[in-house]
Amino acid sequence: MAGFIGSNIVLRLLRTGARVVGVDNVNEYYNPRLKEYRLGLIEDTAKQSSDTWLFVHGDLADRELVNRVFQKETPSIVVNLAVQAGVRYTVAK
Ligand SMILES: NC(=O)c1ccc[n+]([C@@H]2O[C@H](COP(=O)([O-])OP(=O)(O)OC[C@H]3O[C@@H](n4cnc5c(N)ncnc54)[C@H](O)[C@@H]3O)[C@@H](O)[C@H]2O)c1
Repeated sequence: MAGFIGSNIVLRLLRTGARVVGVDNVNEYYNPRLKEYRLGLIEDTAKQSSDTWLFVHGDLADRELVNRVFQKETPSIVVNLAVQAGVRYTVAK
């Protein structure tokens, strides 16, 4: 959710008053400072209303982490916008 599409969806959702939990591993496929900048924008937006935003820095391939998040947060809607483009890069990692 620190990506281009995910971060924009989070910002839109927060502005509706929804509680949002975002998971991202902030990988280095492109400059992670851009992702950190987006996380900062989300933080600033979330501060305008309390208890609406939780960021989990982690990998969606980590089954235990995902199970923990689901058990604790019991989301009613799940959107997966994590993506890794580039077959060579993916295999090398
Ligand atoms: N960018 C566009 O114009 C566009 C248009 C239409 C559809 N889409 C689709 O939207 C989706 C997101 O695209 P984007 O442009 O936001 O990509 P992006 O690379 O900007 O964002 C993807 C995010 O997923 C995170 N990520 C990758 N693997 C992860 C993992 N295993 N665990 C946790 N986080 C992980 C990355 O760190 C990154 O922040 C893709 O499916 C893409 O095809 C994008």
